[in-house]
Amino acid sequence: MTTKADVLLGLQWGDEGKGKIVDVLTPHYQMIARFQGGPNAGHTLEFDGIKHVLHTIPSGIFHPDKINLIGNGVVIDPIILKKEIEKLTERGVDVSKNLFVSRKAHLILPTHKILDAASEASKGLAKIGSTLKGIGPTYMDKTGRNGLRVGDTELNNFSEKYAALKKKHLEMINSYNFKDFDLPAAEKEWMESLQLFSKLNLVDSEHMVNEYIQDGKKVLAEGAQGTLLDIDFGSYPFVTSSNTVCAGACTGLGIAPNRIGEVFGIFKAYCTRVGSGPFPTELHDEIGEKMRQVGREFGSTTGRPRRCGWLDIPALKYAIQINGVTQLIMMKADVLSGFEELKVCIQYELNGNKTSHIPFDVVNNELKPVYKTMKGWKADLTQCRAMDELPAEFMAYIQFIEQEVKVPITVISLGPDREQTIIRNELVIA
Ligand code: GDP
Ligand code: IMO
Ligand code: MG
Repeated sequence: MTTKADVLLGLQWGDEGKGKIVDVLTPHYQMIARFQGGPNAGHTLEFDGIKHVLHTIPSGIFHPDKINLIGNGVVIDPIILKKEIEKLTERGVDVSKNLFVSRKAHLILPTHKILDAASEASKGLAKIGSTLKGIGPTYMDKTGRNGLRVGDTELNNFSEKYAALKKKHLEMINSYNFKDFDLPAAEKEWMESLQLFSKLNLVDSEHMVNEYIQDGKKVLAEGAQGTLLDIDFGSYPFVTSSNTVCAGACTGLGIAPNRIGEVFGIFKAYCTRVGSGPFPTELHDEIGEKMRQVGREFGSTTGRPRRCGWLDIPALKYAIQINGVTQLIMMKADVLSGFEELKVCIQYELNGNKTSHIPFDVVNNELKPVYKTMKGWKADLTQCRAMDELPAEFMAYIQFIEQEVKVPITVISLGPDREQTIIRNELVIA
């Protein structure tokens, strides 16, 4: 009865709308599992007039009969996780039975957050624009084999391990000559929040996930960030510190590659990016400003304004290839209503030549977009619930994308609410 796990992940620079769609798809699954990233993520869900932002907890948590797992590839700040749980409890969501945490997930220490800030401050104008949640330093300690894991909190020598790592961090912070922090206060809150783990369901999650798959239960792996922020394939060094691509679901949950089924690639009908780094189709004019205002493009985690621009097909094709995307989900086309014309980047111009190839050095090479211009649509799409209600110009837009990338768009989102979603007939669950 073995089945396969499906993966849902972002194809752009994050904030594509993963949280909303995971919540919409959850009824088809028994388990929703986060596989990488940490509280740098902000996944927004809206239903029944409520808006909720999740950072560490998978977006299936509002369905009480579904298991939500924080996998080994995730990094956890117990202070943030505790606050998230408290907020859910206030909303009447009891996580005691359906939230599970991998013992192998790494812990974000207070000093990791200070190191993140110190590293960014030292870079000046060249800063990454990190969310300052300690993500980079925590993954550095993981791969450097110095990290602390959730399971360590159950061991007797936890205090010594913590003290040793803190000592190392303080030396590093000192070498940055960074002084803008209050460690005792942060440490007190962190230590108190660790109590949380004694009440949570800690598991050897790779066993749990594989038992589910073997028993024919459906698992959906929920990505964080997006492909263009991947540590290997994103616009390095302006990336996050984990593998956000499909392969990350294998390492971040212990799922074998031949046990991956459908790969849902999610993208906005335009592009956004928070933080620094190259963005070929970025708009610095009133069109970009309109996208930001209408699309409410302000970070779910940091509140920073998101940079906005036109859809980038070469980047989308690249992301589809790296992830083996089998179905596309297009978000936020409602935001484009009322634009006279829409532009879609179909190639780049680099040193006078046209190319679709993203070069090694995207930081110093200016990729100039080559645009196809399409007719916009006027109608408000937020009330549309079926394909035949959509204007011809919209259909031409999605048909053009499908033709270019050769993967079907099976879900269309036309507003932040759960209900503002059209699922086309072709949707396949592995
Ligand atoms: P995630 O990080 O991928 O989960 O995405 P975020 O939650 O950070 O950002 C997506 C934002 O767009 C949130 O504010 C959502 O409520 C909102 N949103 C999601 N889908 C749609 C849509 O189809 N139309 C509009 N207008 N907003 C949407
Ligand atoms: P979700 O899951 C958008 C960006 C930051 C910064 C870079 C590195 O909500 O889509 P980090 O804190 O990871 O070291 O920051 O990555 N970034 C995100 N941008 N959505 C996210 O998550 C992001 N998580 C990190 O803005 O540019
Ligand atoms: Mg987000």
